Amino acid sequence: MKHLLSAADLSRDEAVLIIDTAAELAAVTDRSVKKLPTLRGRTVVNLFFEDSTRTRISFELAAKRLSADVINFAAKGSSVSKGESLKDTALTLEAMGADAVVIRHGSSGAPHRLANSDWIQGSVINAGDGTHEHPTQALLDAFTLRRHLRSGAGDLSGVRVAIVGDILHSRVARSNVLLLKTLGAEVTVVAPPTLMPYGVESWPCHTSYSIDDVLPDVDAIMMLRVQAERMQAAYFPSSLEYSRMFGLDSARVARLPEHAIVMHPGPMNRGMEISADVADSPRSVMVEQVTNGVSVRMAVMYLLLGGMQEEI
Ligand code: NCD
Repeated sequence: MKHLLSAADLSRDEAVLIIDTAAELAAVTDRSVKKLPTLRGRTVVNLFFEDSTRTRISFELAAKRLSADVINFAAKGSSVSKGESLKDTALTLEAMGADAVVIRHGSSGAPHRLANSDWIQGSVINAGDGTHEHPTQALLDAFTLRRHLRSGAGDLSGVRVAIVGDILHSRVARSNVLLLKTLGAEVTVVAPPTLMPYGVESWPCHTSYSIDDVLPDVDAIMMLRVQAERMQAAYFPSSLEYSRMFGLDSARVARLPEHAIVMHPGPMNRGMEISADVADSPRSVMVEQVTNGVSVRMAVMYLLLGGMQEEI
């Protein structure tokens, strides 16, 4: 495999290989010298057309831990603000010898456009495209689920996951539904009818319009941010009503099975989809998701850029 564009492209074995590799690489992160020489002399470009904190820093750190040279390109402050196209930006990066391009873009399909063009010869990694996909987020979530619920080995057969909130605008939800299904988990997406995507019946998951109905029967609950920046209309009457109907507070957490974990990809709207006390409680694994993201992105770059020959 040369690119990572969609969680849908991963077979069970490929996904398990990435997660297993991430687990081995996580051990490197625990050492005092956190670097491997694998990508020495290679150049990774972080091409970010949309705002990001976690994902950009995570890819940067992952590439640096593999000894790659990293260039961070943010559209704001670049010639993109002068109207430069994706094609010309890509050609510029190619001219400078990028071996991998990690792209986040507001338009669904932008990473595919890049990968299927002759503008760039290197690997393309999708770091979030519009409302479409965010495959490395799904992989780090799967890694986190496996650590907590499957003692760190194999796939996620039988694990029950509810994904709650703004499913309509969420690339995290889409990638997770696809990958979790591939790994054998049972997923339910929960949202108000206005934030449920059209055609969700064809997704490989169950649907529900009530968070309270799903609480007792899940091993993990993944809360999603309400993506106001992608909403051109009112999808619910008020934030107070949203958090009453779909927010995770301590009363709802008390109705989860005792072993169930609380996840959130970040950034959170505290008090909206998740209450501050739940976010900070020991049930929540959000900070760990961020840590695991670095290992998973190291694994993706390690495998895509052909580090296979070298021993970890
Ligand atoms: C998500 C994203 O950008 O899609 N965040 C992330 O990558 N950690 C989710 C979000 O923005 O709500």
